[in-house]
Amino acid sequence: MNVLDDKTLDELREIAGRYPEKRSGLLPMLHLAQSVQGKVTPEAIEACADILDISAADVSGVATFYTMYKRHAVGDFHVGVCTNTLCAVMGGDAIFDRLKEHLDVGNDEVAEKRQGDQHSVSLEHVECNAACDYAPVVMVNWEFMDNQTPDSAVQMVEALRTGQEVRSTRGPAICTWREAERVLAGFPDGRVDEGPGAGPASLAGLEIARERGWTAPTAPAPAAVEAAGSKQEAVSEADTSRAESETVEETSATGESAAEKEEAQ
Ligand code: FES
Repeated sequence: MNVLDDKTLDELREIAGRYPEKRSGLLPMLHLAQSVQGKVTPEAIEACADILDISAADVSGVATFYTMYKRHAVGDFHVGVCTNTLCAVMGGDAIFDRLKEHLDVGNDEVAEKRQGDQHSVSLEHVECNAACDYAPVVMVNWEFMDNQTPDSAVQMVEALRTGQEVRSTRGPAICTWREAERVLAGFPDGRVDEGPGAGPASLAGLEIARERGWTAPTAPAPAAVEAAGSKQEAVSEADTSRAESETVEETSATGESAAEKEEAQ
């Protein structure tokens, strides 16, 4: 595990400097720390706290809340099998069980590297990835592998372990965990446009709408929005005038103001 050297500390400060409130940089800073150390270490927590002028407890609270931050090492390729409702019934549970057996690991564990393996693989069950139209979905270092089966998932982890290129079904060739974490920290690797942006299943609704000539309701014109704003102002003004006139009426009816009444009491 690497230490946080001067270059990394400078990059952590650079991230903090990107935001009007520097503590807003905490999430990408933790990703950068993971890209260097493979996990969020006590050293990284102290460094982030120091740079952001917040407590180590604040940083630790964030690092332990979000599941993308790891307090123990994961593999070079972290495989997340979606076992949320739709993926589970479409085969996610079967994929997870098969991978557990094949890799001989439990949830959130790293498989032992075999002789000749180039990379390590870890396995975790994950919640919905908002990719239900491609269920059952598996993620590798946060890249989608759509419409998986137990057999295709086993083939995929074998390819990853033995150093073969694996391409996301909707993204680039899958890079290592640490490389992916650096991208999430806001240091692009120049491959953002590799692979399709959206697949046919996600665009099906749009295609049907085009065929049938459906369109979204038009947004109100700016003039209508302005008119609504003026109407609101007019209502406020009317309320103020009415309140003032009621005060005047009350004063004239009794011959003394509300303040005078209060003083008399
Ligand atoms: S339930 Fe798996 S992506 Fe939504």
